[in-house]
Amino acid sequence: MSSPVLSIENLSIDYLAETTVHAVREVSLTLERGEILGLAGESGCGKSTLAYAITRLLKPPARVTSGRVVFSSREGYDVDLSGLAGDDLRAFRWDKIAMVFQGAMNSLNPVLRISEQLEDVYLTHRPELTKAERRIRCGELLERVGVDRNRLRAYPHELSGGMRQRVMIAMALALEPQVLIMDEPTTALDVVVQREILLEITRLRAELGFAVIFITHDLPLLLEISDRIAVMRAGLIVELDDALTLYTKPKHPYTRRLLSSFPSLTGERGGFVRSGDLASVELDETEQTIEAVEMESR
Ligand SMILES: Nc1ncnc2c1ncn2[C@@H]1O[C@H](COP(=O)(O)OP(=O)(O)O)[C@@H](O)[C@H]1O
Ligand SMILES: [Mg+2]
Repeated sequence: MSSPVLSIENLSIDYLAETTVHAVREVSLTLERGEILGLAGESGCGKSTLAYAITRLLKPPARVTSGRVVFSSREGYDVDLSGLAGDDLRAFRWDKIAMVFQGAMNSLNPVLRISEQLEDVYLTHRPELTKAERRIRCGELLERVGVDRNRLRAYPHELSGGMRQRVMIAMALALEPQVLIMDEPTTALDVVVQREILLEITRLRAELGFAVIFITHDLPLLLEISDRIAVMRAGLIVELDDALTLYTKPKHPYTRRLLSSFPSLTGERGGFVRSGDLASVELDETEQTIEAVEMESR
């Protein structure tokens, strides 16, 4: 029996700019407990807008014009996220749903040691812990994401980009959330580091049981790590299927086009070869699609 931890129902979001942009259009999706759901689609298709809406981080001129997002806790209660405000919302965001965004590693405070920044999460959300308990948890947390605990004393600039991003992932996992939303979390990292971090996430997911929405324009990457993949285009989910089916039997022409734009997609799931010139291929295709979408909306 499936039991969703998150249900997105008929969600629409506009940006009320000079002309109204329908960034997300009547999206319905469920995230099952413990699954990795990949969200693919080219730049500008609405992925981040959807992520920000789920976590209630949208700012004007964005406006939710329809729908809702319901969180079903493993403790057996449902919460309509649109009904949360103030402290409830803040507590909820760290505790139940955590996020790692692109470039998150640059949001570490440069003048505070890693230990202080991790401890701060516990200070705010777990005030009952003693100082000694906080220390122990921070050490464990760091090692969980593959960083030696003696790095607690380091300042952010003393760590590599990959390590800083791991620290951000550790921070997101600090309160053992049930959902982790990752929006292009490894895009700024080189391919080897990116891979290591992704393996870490799939391992942690198995260990801790959280569900993940993993967002990227990098479809080959998603095929490797996702249970299911949703393909988004111009604000719509055009296809949603398990990763292997999506790869072997894509139904939507856009999915087929997206797949064919990655010449490195050969072999079985999990055995993809990522070629060095992938980046340039992606970019060309992205530009083409943006052009196509723009033509359509004229
Ligand atoms: N603050 C904003 N004001 C107006 N339009 C925006 C704003 N932010 C995003 N958009 C538009 O919304 C659409 C979706 O953007 P986004 O969610 O960032 O896409 P993605 O994450 O898939 O690249 C794009 O057309 C983008 O130009
Ligand atoms: Mg984005």
